[in-house]
Amino acid sequence: MPIMGSNLNKELRLARAQKKDTRFIYQVVKEWLEHHADHSVITLKMPSFAKFSKTKTTKYIIKKGDMPIGFVHILANNEIGYYVIPEFQGMGLGTWAVIQLMKKHPRERYYATVNNKNIASVKLITSLGFKSKATIYEKIGISRKKIKR
Ligand SMILES: CC(C)(COP(=O)(O)OP(=O)(O)OC[C@H]1O[C@@H](n2cnc3c(N)ncnc32)[C@H](O)[C@@H]1OP(=O)(O)O)[C@@H](O)C(=O)NCCC(=O)NCCS
Repeated sequence: MPIMGSNLNKELRLARAQKKDTRFIYQVVKEWLEHHADHSVITLKMPSFAKFSKTKTTKYIIKKGDMPIGFVHILANNEIGYYVIPEFQGMGLGTWAVIQLMKKHPRERYYATVNNKNIASVKLITSLGFKSKATIYEKIGISRKKIKR
C-alpha cells in the first residue's frame, strides 16, 4: 500500500533504535498483546522489561518528525517484525517501513510469523510477495502429568 499524503511521506524516517527507545517498543507491544492476545503467535505473555531488553534484534523506530509512531525489526535468523501505532495504521506506513528495513538489510530470504487472524499483517506481508508455507500447531493448558502415552 503506498503512503497516503505526500506531506507525511516527507516527514517519515527510520531511525536505528537506541537503548532509550526500548521502553517505547516494550510498552506498545505490551498494550498490543493485552488487547490482541488472540493475534499473537509465539509470545503468549509479555516477559519482564529486563528480559525483553536482552532480546537480540536490530530495531528501527518509525518516526514522523521526532515522534515515534512504530518500529520494525530483524532477527539474526532473518525473521522480521513490525508495528505501527493505531492512529497511523492503514496509511501505508507499515508497508513502507518493512520495505526500508529490507533495503537496509538485504538477505536471500526473509520470513515473518503471522497469525492468520491478523488480517492487516497478512495483507501487508503478502503484498510484499511473502508466501504462506507452514501452519503452527499449538496446545495450551495441559499439564505434563495429564499427557498420556
Ligand atoms: C500490521 C500493521 C503493522 C500494518 O501496518 P499499517 O501501517 O496499518 O499497514 P499498511 O497501511 O501499510 O497496510 C498494509 C495492508 O493492510 C491493510 N490493512 C491495514 N489496516 C487494516 C485493518 N485494520 N483491517 C484490514 N486490513 C488492514 C491495508 O489495506 C493494506 O492492504 P493492501 O496492501 O491490500 O491495501 C499494523 O496493523 C499493526 O501495527 N498492527 C499491530 C501489530 C502487529 O500486528 N504486528 C504484526 C505482528 S505479525
